[in-house]
Amino acid sequence: MGVAARLSAPRALVLWAALGAAGKARGLGRELLTERWGWGAKERGSGCSLPRPPFWGLVNAAWSLCAVGKRQSPVDVELKRVLYDPFLPPLRLSTGGEKLRGTLYNTGRHVSFLPAPRPVVNVSGGPLLYSHRLSELRLLFGARDGAGSEHQINHQGFSAEVQLIHFNQELYGNLSAASRGPNGLAILSLFVNVAGSSNPFLSRLLNRDTITRISYKNDAYFLQDLSLELLFPESFGFITYQGSLSTPPCSETVTWILIDRALNITSLQMHSLRLLSQNPPSQIFQSLSGNGRPLQPLAHRALRGNRDPRHPERRCRGPNYRLHVDGAPHGR
Ligand SMILES: *[C@@H]1O[C@H](CO)[C@@H](O)[C@H](O)[C@H]1NC(C)=O
Ligand SMILES: *[C@@H]1O[C@H](CO)[C@@H](O)[C@H](O)[C@H]1NC(C)=O
Ligand SMILES: *[C@@H]1O[C@H](CO)[C@@H](O)[C@H](O)[C@H]1NC(C)=O
Repeated sequence: MGVAARLSAPRALVLWAALGAAGKARGLGRELLTERWGWGAKERGSGCSLPRPPFWGLVNAAWSLCAVGKRQSPVDVELKRVLYDPFLPPLRLSTGGEKLRGTLYNTGRHVSFLPAPRPVVNVSGGPLLYSHRLSELRLLFGARDGAGSEHQINHQGFSAEVQLIHFNQELYGNLSAASRGPNGLAILSLFVNVAGSSNPFLSRLLNRDTITRISYKNDAYFLQDLSLELLFPESFGFITYQGSLSTPPCSETVTWILIDRALNITSLQMHSLRLLSQNPPSQIFQSLSGNGRPLQPLAHRALRGNRDPRHPERRCRGPNYRLHVDGAPHGR
């Protein structure tokens, strides 16, 4: 079981400072936290209104791609438009055999898990030509079941979306530099349904003892002994396309990889997420739910997938449809 310590906001910041070099890798996250943007309809009570998604690109010249970019995210994936690519290798996760630890954090915009500098967690394979380093796990969710994911499949949303945000560590020193360069970022998305069972990794984050420690903005809670591979379904296919960050500055440097089998969490866990506030305790309660960007046009971009549509069932069992952890196919 993980040893966990309650961190008040100032102590969480000290922890961040102590993370040193890898803390710097999160420069993007920290820059953005201080910037003024939001999703609208949530500002009543605070007296000020932050620009909503359609205006992100208009209020800051550095965010112009949010308005004029042609490769923006999220998108709706029409499965009949997905091109089967038999040359896509399986996804590889590397943790050096160590358990993951880090800080679960209510940023006021999302639920974020920020991994500690060690161990380094890498993802490669699939469409990725470089090794990408995990920088943040972000959880987006809706106010009602069946809505809350940013991406959709065949016009259908999901109750939540887990985004694993990585930067290309072979070409760039940190997330901020990578977000501005070609092949800079890789984001793996997993969709979440509300059902009777619960994904074992998400259960660690969403159990009552943990989730109630991050009720308010800037609350943080340290977790260890996490096995990231447990987040992934036993077998799955994926769909990939070239897109952007779904938050300012909307940089078009992201290879998105959408896992095509949804995870489950319980309705109690979903409820506990909706009780998180995007404000500090001194301000009015406003749920963190609904913090996703609206769909963006796919235009002429290609969607590639590793499932053969002619044999959807038979072709989803082999080693290509498993996560390879530290070299070996992961089996449970
Ligand atoms: C990220 O890397 C760039 C270039 O390598 C550097 O100039 C910048 O200071 C770094 N940013 C942070 C937050 O460490
Ligand atoms: C992650 O990738 C980097 C660069 O490819 C490599 O040096 C490092 O050993 C990898 N880390 C693990 C835990 O495999
Ligand atoms: C999620 O729940 C549904 C319905 O209860 C079940 O059919 C499905 O196998 C579950 N998925 C996983 C990944 O456990």
